[in-house]
Amino acid sequence: MTIKAEHLFFQYEDVPILEDISFEIQPGEFIGVFGPNGGGKTTLLKLIMGFLKPRQGKLTTVARESMGYVPQISQLDRQFPLTVLDVVMMGCLDKSIWRSYQIGAREKALQALSDMGMQDYQDHPFGTLSGGQTQRVLIARALVSDPAILLLDEPTASVDAQAEDNITHILESLKGKMTLIMVTHDLHLILKKADRLLCVNRRITPYSSSEVCDHFSQGLYHRPEI
Ligand SMILES: Nc1ncnc2c1ncn2[C@@H]1O[C@H](COP(=O)(O)OP(=O)(O)O)[C@@H](O)[C@H]1O
Ligand SMILES: [Mg+2]
Repeated sequence: MTIKAEHLFFQYEDVPILEDISFEIQPGEFIGVFGPNGGGKTTLLKLIMGFLKPRQGKLTTVARESMGYVPQISQLDRQFPLTVLDVVMMGCLDKSIWRSYQIGAREKALQALSDMGMQDYQDHPFGTLSGGQTQRVLIARALVSDPAILLLDEPTASVDAQAEDNITHILESLKGKMTLIMVTHDLHLILKKADRLLCVNRRITPYSSSEVCDHFSQGLYHRPEI
């Protein structure tokens, strides 16, 4: 279940967003994705998930059913009148045309909530949670279908320090059990935890942790001059 991108190009309208993107991600790797706002990180996740199609190039990826997605919070409608348990059960939607709830969905959802320490909140309205609680519920939702690949879009943005610690621990516990692809501005976190880093800024640049450390003080988004 390797993910392989070969010379991908993507644009929404007439402005190129991603150009000549090539990379390979092996099963079980933890990949940290960073880069400036508007650089195309969220778009890249959507391509990997098959929500968007590349204009050019070849992308070998896995079935949607094998992926869990923790979306960027700013892209969610927090006013949507759902309870926490409803949101987690959405991760159990059967992929058949009937979209019916899978047998045992409620039990699976409750287990996932409890794994994230959120079992006491099952009947709370989703929109009333704090940033950190929201992230834990979204991670529970993404994990409920036992994904082989978990994609997280800025899970530590807009959460407090304690929630950040909490999410870091959750990621540690998942590391090695599934492929992790995490978009973040928290370079310290991915320098410590990720196996490899990818910088996305219209183009993609791979970095090892040591390269980013050496060039930290010179601005993050340039290719080191060797
Ligand atoms: N649905 C869309 N239609 C048109 N342009 C979009 C759409 N989504 C994102 N963009 C544009 O694509 C660029 C990359 O966005 P995005 O992938 O969200 O970047 P990042 O996640 O790195 O901040 C931005 O300039 C953004 O305005
Ligand atoms: Mg984004």
